[in-house]
Amino acid sequence: MQQNFKSSYNVHVVRILLTFVGMIIVGSLLRSLLLPSEFGDYGHYRPGAVTEEANREMRNKTNDSCLDCHYFVKKIHLKGVHEVVSCEVCHGAYSDHVKDGKVIGEMPVYRGEEIKSLCLRCHNKIIRARPPESIKMIAMPEHLEEKNVRTDHVCNQCHHVHAPYKWIKEAREMMGLPEKWEGGSSWKK
Ligand code: HEC
Ligand code: HEC
Ligand code: HEC
Ligand code: HEC
Repeated sequence: MQQNFKSSYNVHVVRILLTFVGMIIVGSLLRSLLLPSEFGDYGHYRPGAVTEEANREMRNKTNDSCLDCHYFVKKIHLKGVHEVVSCEVCHGAYSDHVKDGKVIGEMPVYRGEEIKSLCLRCHNKIIRARPPESIKMIAMPEHLEEKNVRTDHVCNQCHHVHAPYKWIKEAREMMGLPEKWEGGSSWKK
């Protein structure tokens, strides 16, 4: 006896199909709601994003922009070996300090022991990842021991933070020690 197995229970197939159709409709509705209108005008991106990024307020500026106001520091910094080092590395970002030409916040200034760790961020001999010829490195406390001073001396007792050889050069001149440094009126070597 031949039975006809064609089922009349095909509701489940219809349900699956309806679910798919529903997902497609909801999906495209959400897409049109969430996508910014300008998306795709020029390609697979939002053109406005470019202008927004370009208009973002700059956090950092050049040394020259600091020196516009800090004349006293200028006289020293530009004559020393730290001329090439950014003010902001040691003092923080311009935008935390100045807005529209007016001072809006204080810059951090390191004192005492903090200065030691600041200097050693760049000058510590234990930093091995950097080629030794790039920046001169020292080891502590050996650096102080070979100068015959107490090891609790802080770097800025001998090095001017803005021109590290200023005082050292001046002291040598005062003591009439042979000129070890070149560069005339500057405090570079
Ligand atoms: C619009 C002028 C102006 C600009 C630009 C400017 N400063 Fe200043 N800065 C000042 C003034 C004014 C003071 C407060 C004066 C004071 O307290 O001796 C100050 C204070 C400071 C101090 C603290 C001094 C202290 O003794 O506490 C530091 C450090 C400093 N500025 C660094 C910077 C750096 C680094 C930049 C650049 C990223 C910069 N400044 C840009 C005007 C400026
Ligand atoms: C290597 C780190 C370093 C760099 C680079 C640096 N500073 Fe300083 N600065 C210090 C430290 C540390 C002090 C506080 C201790 C001191 O004055 O001996 C200081 C003090 C200051 C002061 C307040 C005291 C003073 O001498 O009038 C100002 C203003 C200042 N710096 C501005 C600047 C500016 C502007 C630049 C960039 C041209 C700059 N600094 C670059 C480390 C630095
Ligand atoms: C952001 C990194 C940085 C920090 C922080 C820094 N320095 Fe320097 N320092 C340099 C660079 C870069 C040079 C080399 C400049 C060159 O050779 O043109 C230099 C040069 C020097 C030199 C001369 C070395 C030579 O070439 O003979 C001395 C001394 C020195 N720094 C002392 C200090 C002291 C003291 C401090 C802390 C107040 C300090 N530095 C903080 C980057 C730094
Ligand atoms: C007692 C004074 C004194 C103190 C404190 C001192 N230095 Fe020096 N430093 C010198 C003298 C002087 C030189 C000049 C070169 C020489 O004669 O060794 C020098 C040279 C350097 C050099 C260049 C090294 C080279 O190979 O040419 C660096 C970098 C330096 N010091 C960093 C520091 C740092 C960082 C500190 C703080 C942790 C510090 N110094 C503390 C006196 C001192």
